[in-house]
Amino acid sequence: MTATRDLMLPHIRRLKVYQGVEPMEVMARKSGIPPEKVIRLNGNENPYGPSPRVLEALGSFQSYNHYPDPEQRRLRDALSGYLGLPADQIVAGNGSDEIIDLLLRMFVGPGENIIIPAPTFGMYAFSAEICAGWAIPVPRDEAFEIDLEAMRLAITPETKACFFASPNNPTGNIATAAQIRDLLETGLLVVVDETYYEFCGHTVLPLLREYPNLVVLRTFSKWAGLAGLRIGLGAMHPDLAQTMMSMKPPYNVNLAAEVALLVSLEDSMVLLERVRSIVAERDRMMGLLAQIKGLTPWPSQANFILCQLPEGRGKEIFDGLCSRGIFLRYFSTPRLRDCVRASVGLPHETDAVVKALAELVSG
Ligand SMILES: Cc1ncc(COP(=O)(O)O)c(C=O)c1O
Repeated sequence: MTATRDLMLPHIRRLKVYQGVEPMEVMARKSGIPPEKVIRLNGNENPYGPSPRVLEALGSFQSYNHYPDPEQRRLRDALSGYLGLPADQIVAGNGSDEIIDLLLRMFVGPGENIIIPAPTFGMYAFSAEICAGWAIPVPRDEAFEIDLEAMRLAITPETKACFFASPNNPTGNIATAAQIRDLLETGLLVVVDETYYEFCGHTVLPLLREYPNLVVLRTFSKWAGLAGLRIGLGAMHPDLAQTMMSMKPPYNVNLAAEVALLVSLEDSMVLLERVRSIVAERDRMMGLLAQIKGLTPWPSQANFILCQLPEGRGKEIFDGLCSRGIFLRYFSTPRLRDCVRASVGLPHETDAVVKALAELVSG
């Protein structure tokens, strides 16, 4: 294997694994708790799952033996209604992750870079590194707000793009339209990842009319509960969309995902009602966490809450949660030392997390 490994591109050989969420059985094995008792709040997933009509439609669809449409005609038409944009400005992807990957492959070559306000979603840096490029992290301020001045100063001749998540993962706060506009004026590609849009209602989609260098990302993983089927999208200038359509794998979105997306849009009233329940539960969880002495939860506009644990006790408390079968996302980077991110789940899951945290923090 060593000789074959030597043939590999050096930057691929050096690549660090992206830590995705583990399957339920693995979490169950690690904690010694039966899978049905595991509380899985580390992936910002939708606790209600897909709409019942989606499950029915997936079971009765007859044409899984056919390839999907490489032009994504039905998908792009349906998405055009959802976004209020012409279909030629939309590309559907295997999750918004795939659109991030395609954008980086379109724009970033060896030695080139993107600017990211840190901390943020890990896939931007990961996908840049796959292209032999890199991400320049520009620290957010004390309140996790974007530092525009520092971002502008970080731009180098090799900079191609800025990537923002809004609301940001894991901090939960949004970037304002004024901040996005400011960076769009630099002429760089500006990608605004609105994966959590439905939980807050803030969007910069209308800016697409003014700025050909803007790309907005959305997904059906969170609000529509389709994370396992992998379907997201990018909205962009028609020239960019045309190029992305020509370079994507022809059948990048599978037919099950297509069926699920079409029915989710028809059933969006039900799904958005669930989103409202998740938002109400987030606010309840925020109130409960804020009452625990020693914890500092950060206000969030998404379906998760970042929470600062007592200094120096992050790992111990996280391990204590795991041993009770409660899985949150743990961070140990300097800016997020002793922090966990809890996805908003069902009310009984919130209660279990809050009870366990209160006990572990005081104990
Ligand atoms: C900010 C952000 N962007 C993109 C994604 C990926 O979404 P998808 O499931 O559509 O690939 C996530 C997933 O958690 C995320 O937090």
